[in-house]
Amino acid sequence: MKIVVTGGLGFIGSHTVVELQNKGFEVIALDNLSNSSIEVLDGIERITGKKPVFENIDLREKTAVQNFFKKYSDISGVIHFAASKAVGESVENPLLYYENNINTLVYLLQELQQKPEAQFIFSSSCTVYGQAEKMPITENASVQPAVSPYGNTKQIGEEIIHDVAKVTNINAILLRYFNPIGAHPSAEIGELPLGIPQNLVPFITQTAIGLREQLSVYGNDYPTADGTAIRDYIHVVDLAKAHVVALQRLINKKNLEKVETFNLGTGTGSSVLEVIASFEKVSGQKLNYKIVGRREGDITEAYANTDKANNILGWKAESSLDESLASAWKWEQKIRS
Ligand code: WQD
Repeated sequence: MKIVVTGGLGFIGSHTVVELQNKGFEVIALDNLSNSSIEVLDGIERITGKKPVFENIDLREKTAVQNFFKKYSDISGVIHFAASKAVGESVENPLLYYENNINTLVYLLQELQQKPEAQFIFSSSCTVYGQAEKMPITENASVQPAVSPYGNTKQIGEEIIHDVAKVTNINAILLRYFNPIGAHPSAEIGELPLGIPQNLVPFITQTAIGLREQLSVYGNDYPTADGTAIRDYIHVVDLAKAHVVALQRLINKKNLEKVETFNLGTGTGSSVLEVIASFEKVSGQKLNYKIVGRREGDITEAYANTDKANNILGWKAESSLDESLASAWKWEQKIRS
């Protein structure tokens, strides 16, 4: 039984390929290399000893998707990471996001619905909650009107999957990530942001290594203890392991609903200043940063209630913020050496 990982050479995708291989799954990594590099395949092989089958396919090409599924008729599961994910870019270029994040999902589901049975895992995001009223955030917290086309594509994606699963043999699990950070402890794979990083942690490590002049902290006038915004930073390997457990649940089918949703976070919120302090501790380096105004569209606080993932998936994040940041720093030093 083959498992397809779309975006399999990307940040979370590549870490998930490693964990799938560690559990004995045969993996096909599918990627169009628009936000990843082919060298990631070698990194995966150096970790697991197995190079996954790789297909350079652009999921926006419907015939390419159809031909792929003709070529591999024994696919039963898809973990779908491939998508554009930069909030700011999605505001500037919404159609790029609707094409890349929605059309591709439709083409994949059109192929999977023809199978006698299929497992589908969708990479969703806590962004669907917007600024939730209550912390920690549970899966039945209301989904707020999206503040960006990126967030909207995650909400629409979830709705499409619900509609399709109702009338097909597809069983799906929606995984709502909080803030994925860090890198594989081997430092053979990690985050490779193209250009200026939008996210906090790669910007911190690039500042510390001297690639960036100074980190701008977006606002210290939030209604939080130290005035900076709070997020739930989860190690990417913990996140990857959750995908394997979710796939196993879909395969075992025990008490399975057609579509299940899980928050993937640590359950602990950390402010930007707390992340900086943790990074300075684990790296032994003073970070050069300044406080500036808030970033458009940012929310004050988001951290997960992880009871559902703990109790139903039997999964819990294991790495601390310090450990996650130490792995991010080790990776940054490795790729710049
Ligand atoms: C975290 C905190 C910033 C950069 C987004 C998406 C989410 C997911 C992860 C894709 C915020 C502050 C950041 C900087 C800063 N994306 N910050 N200076 O915005 O919580 O989530 O990325 O899956 O869906 O919404 O993550 O890392 O950009 O920001 O002060 O240079 O760090 O204001 O408070 P975010 P982030």
